Amino acid sequence: MTDTLPGPQSMARDDVDGVAIADVRAEHRRDGMGVGTPTPRLSWIADTTAEGWRQGAYEVEARGADGQPRGGTGRVASDQSTLVPWPFAPLQSRERVEVNVRVWGADGRVSAWSAPYPVEAGLLQPGDWSARFVAPDWDEDTAHDQPCPLLRREFDIRAGVGVSQARLYVTALGVFEAQLNGVAVCDHVLDPGWTSYAHRLRYQTFDVTSLLREGRNALGAILGDGWYRGRLGFGGGRRAIYGDRLALLAQLEITYADGTTARVATDEGWRAAMGPILASGIYDGESYDARLERPGWSAPGYDDGDWADVRPISRDVATLVAPAGPPVRRTEVVRPAAITAASSNRAIVDFGQNLVGRVRLTVRGEAGRTITLRHAEVLEGGELCTRPLRAARATDRYTLRGGGEETWEPRFTFHGFRYAEVEGWPGELQLDDLAAVVCHSDLERTGWFECSDPTINRLHENVVWSMRGNFLDIPTDCPQRDERLGWTGDIQVFAPTAAFLYDVAGFLSSWLADLDAEQRDAAGVVPFVVPNIIDEPTVPATAWGDAAVIVPWVLYRRFGDAGILAAQFDSMRAWVDVIAARAGETYLWDTGFQFGDWLDPAAPPDKPAAARTDPALIATAYLAHSAELVGRAAGVLGRADDEGRYLTLAARVRDAFAAEFVSSTGRVVSDAPTAYALALEFDLLHDADQRRHAGERLAALAREGGYRVGTGFVGTPLILDALCGVGADDAAYRLLTQRACPSWLYPVTMGATTIWERWDSLLPDGAVNPGEMTSFNHYALGAVADWLHRVVGGLAPAEPGYRRLDVRPRPGGGLTSARARHRTPYGLADCAWRIADGAITVEVVIPPNTTAHVTLPGSDGESVEVGSGTHRWSYPYRDPREGRPPLSLDSALVALVDDAEAWEAALRSVPDLAGVEVGLQGRGDMPLRRVVSRLPHPTEAGMALEAALAALWR
Ligand code: BGC
Repeated sequence: MTDTLPGPQSMARDDVDGVAIADVRAEHRRDGMGVGTPTPRLSWIADTTAEGWRQGAYEVEARGADGQPRGGTGRVASDQSTLVPWPFAPLQSRERVEVNVRVWGADGRVSAWSAPYPVEAGLLQPGDWSARFVAPDWDEDTAHDQPCPLLRREFDIRAGVGVSQARLYVTALGVFEAQLNGVAVCDHVLDPGWTSYAHRLRYQTFDVTSLLREGRNALGAILGDGWYRGRLGFGGGRRAIYGDRLALLAQLEITYADGTTARVATDEGWRAAMGPILASGIYDGESYDARLERPGWSAPGYDDGDWADVRPISRDVATLVAPAGPPVRRTEVVRPAAITAASSNRAIVDFGQNLVGRVRLTVRGEAGRTITLRHAEVLEGGELCTRPLRAARATDRYTLRGGGEETWEPRFTFHGFRYAEVEGWPGELQLDDLAAVVCHSDLERTGWFECSDPTINRLHENVVWSMRGNFLDIPTDCPQRDERLGWTGDIQVFAPTAAFLYDVAGFLSSWLADLDAEQRDAAGVVPFVVPNIIDEPTVPATAWGDAAVIVPWVLYRRFGDAGILAAQFDSMRAWVDVIAARAGETYLWDTGFQFGDWLDPAAPPDKPAAARTDPALIATAYLAHSAELVGRAAGVLGRADDEGRYLTLAARVRDAFAAEFVSSTGRVVSDAPTAYALALEFDLLHDADQRRHAGERLAALAREGGYRVGTGFVGTPLILDALCGVGADDAAYRLLTQRACPSWLYPVTMGATTIWERWDSLLPDGAVNPGEMTSFNHYALGAVADWLHRVVGGLAPAEPGYRRLDVRPRPGGGLTSARARHRTPYGLADCAWRIADGAITVEVVIPPNTTAHVTLPGSDGESVEVGSGTHRWSYPYRDPREGRPPLSLDSALVALVDDAEAWEAALRSVPDLAGVEVGLQGRGDMPLRRVVSRLPHPTEAGMALEAALAALWR
C-alpha cells in the first residue's frame, strides 16, 4: 500500500463560503463574568466547512457598558485566533465590556461580526473590598462536628429609581451557599472549592440584578466546614487544618438607573443562627433535621431578634483570586436501577453506575423520623462493602419535618458510590423516591472515542466517569475514602487524557498555582498532595513531584498556552533544581523515599510500593525527562540561558542513566516492563541498536507475561506507546485487548463502571481485594485512554494547541473501526476509520485555521499534508493478520501465543493451556505437540488443539 494511495476526495458542501465566529472566550473561561485579570487574552473559533481555510486577519472591537465604543484593533493581519493578547486599555475592577470579533480568510473574505461576548472584571485590587469576613459570635468545639451557621442581613432598595445592575462578590472560610430574598444566587456546589487557602482563596462574582426588588431585601448565607475546617487526611486525619472559624465575606454592589450606587457588605451588623444542618463533613456526610429549619430566614421580614451577633475575622484580602475554571455543579441525575430489601427497615439501592455526588430523596412521613443513607461502591454478600472507604463514614441523615412531601439533598458533602443503603424509610421505598445527583467541576466536554469493540468502549466510558468523579474542584486520587486528595502523581499520568476529554486548561492552571504556592513553602519540594494537608515534612518523590513540570507542559502542548509555562516556570525549574541536587555529581537520584512504580501488579496487596522496577532507575529517568522539558519550556519562553542549562543537565542525566542502568546492548536493569518503557519513552538509550534490543526485550516481556499488564502507576501510561514506538503494535494491542487479570479490560468483564485503583480491586471470584488500596474510582490507570485517542483513533497534536495535527490511526487488535473526536482550540477535529470488504475508509475533519499531517494505515509511514475541511480516503486494505502462515501441532508455542485469534481459539478448546501462557521463559520454541504432551489429558488436548487450528485455516 505504499505508492497506490489515492488523493483525498474532498467532501463538497453547499455552504463552503460561510464563515461565522462560533465562540469567543476570555482566558480559559466559557463566560467572562468576574475575570481576575485586567488584560484577559481572547480566543475565538471560526466556524466554516471551507477547505483549507486560514485566517488572514482579525478585528476585535469593544463597547463599554454604556454601548459606546471602548476601542478597536482595526484590521490586524494575523493568523492568531487563540489567546490573543488583550488589545485594549486594561480593564478596571468591575468594568464590563462587550467584545465583538470578525475575521478575514486568507482569501480576503470577511466573516460577519460575532455575537457580543461580555467580559467583566472582578475585584482586581485588595482595596476594592470594604466587606470584612464575619463569623458567628458563639463558642464552638471544633474537635467535633458543629452545626452549620446561617448568616443574614436586610437592606433597602430605593423605590422608583430602578436597579440597573447588581453584583455579589462573595466567598467564605469554609464552604457556602448564598441566598438573596429566599433564593440561592447560583447553581454552584461547594463554593469556593478547595485551593491552597492560606495563599489563594477564590471568590465568585454573581449577577444578582434580577433577584432584587424595591423596598426591603435580605441577603443570607449558609456556611459549612468543607475542606477548610472539616476532617481531612488518612489515618484519622485532622480537623480545622486551615482555621477554626467559618466566616463569610460578601459585598453586594448595586447600581441604580440614575447612576447612584449602594453597597451591602458583611460587617458587624449581620446576624447569625444555627440552621438545620447539624453536621456536615466531606468524608463523613451530612445530618439534617428539617424540624430545625427557619422558614424565610434569607427573605425580608424574618424576625432575627433572637439571633446572635457576628464577629469580624481578620484575613488578608490580597489572597483572594477570581476563578480560572468552572465551578462545581450538579451535572446529571441518575435514577436507581434496582432496589432490594435488605431487612424490614433497610433497603439497598443500586444506581447502576459508580458515580460521585449525593442522593436526593423525596419523602412523606411523620415529623422526627430519621432516614439514614450510607454509601458504597460495591457490595459484599449483598450488603454495602464499606471497608474500602476506610475512615470515611459517608453517611447522610435526614430527619423529617412532617406534614407533606419533603425533598432533600445534602449540601456540603459528596460521596463516591454506586449503592446506597436506606434505613428508616416510611413505608416501602420506590424507585422514584430517590435519585443520585452527579456533581463535579462543570468542565466542557471536548473529547470522544469509540471503536468496534464494546468492551473497549466501556473501558473508555469508565475513564470518563472516573474523570468526572475525580475532577471535583481539584484533581483527586479517589472520591470516596478518607483521601480525595490532589495526589500529584495521579494527575501527572492522567493529564494528557484529561486534556483530551474535557477543557481542563483553567481548572488545572488554578491547581498549578496552588502547587506553586505550596512548593514555595517547602523550598522547591513538591508535596505529595496539592493542596498540601499532610502534616509531615515534605520530601520529594519521583513521578509525583514531576507533576510540577509535566502538567504545565501537557497543557502547553494541548491548549497552546505558553502563558501557563510562563506562570509555572519558576515552579518547574525549582522542582528540577531540588531533584538535581539530590542526584548531585553522580546525576543519579538513588536516595530517599520513593513510591516508585506504585501498585505494580507483582507487588503484594499489602506492599503497593514493592514493585519490580528499581526506584532509583525511575527517579533518574524522571530527572532526565523533567530537565529536558524545563529546557524546552525555557526555549518556548525565549530564556536561552535556562534552555542551555537544563538541556545540558538532561544530557548528563541521560549519560548517567545509560552508564548505571543500561547494558551496552540495551538490556535495562530490573528487566521489568516499566524499566524498558521509561528508557524508550524518555529517550534514554544511546543508539538505534540499543533501542532495537530494548524494544525486543520489552515485547518479549509482554509475551512472557502472557500479555497481561505488568506495570504500575509509572509504567502503565507509557507501555503501549513504548511498544508501538519499537514497531510492536501487535503486542500493544494484545495488552489492550487482554481480558484476563491483570489487564485494562478485566475490570470491564467484572462489571466495572469506573476505573479501579488496582487491576484487581475485585478479585476474579468476585471478592473485594483485601489490600489497603482498593478504590473503585481512580483515574490513574485510565491514562491508557490517551493512547486510544492518539493511536487507535489517530488524533494527536503535532504543534501546540493542535495548530497542526498529527493524524495517524493505527488499526490493530482485530478492530474493524474506530473514531476519535476532539474539540481543539480551533474547532472540532475528527478521525474515523472503518475496515470492510477488503477496503479501509478513513474520514478526517481538520478544524479551520489548522493543517494536518496525515499518515494513513498501510502507507508505510508516507504522509500527506492537508488543510481544514473534510477529507476522505478509501482504498484496498488487508488486515495484516490475514494470509499469515497456518499453525499446526508442529508450530512453536510462541507462534501460537503471538497469534491473538489462534490463541483465543486454542484456549477455548484446551482451557488447560492458560497455565502455559504465563512464564513462557525458555519454552517459546517448544513445538505445540510437546507442550500438549505435558498437559493433564495429552491425547484429547492434542486432538482438540489440532481441530481448532485446522478450523481457523480452513
Ligand atoms: C492514593 C494514590 C496516590 C498514592 C501515593 C494513595 O493513597 O490513593 O492514588 O498516588 O497514595 O502513592
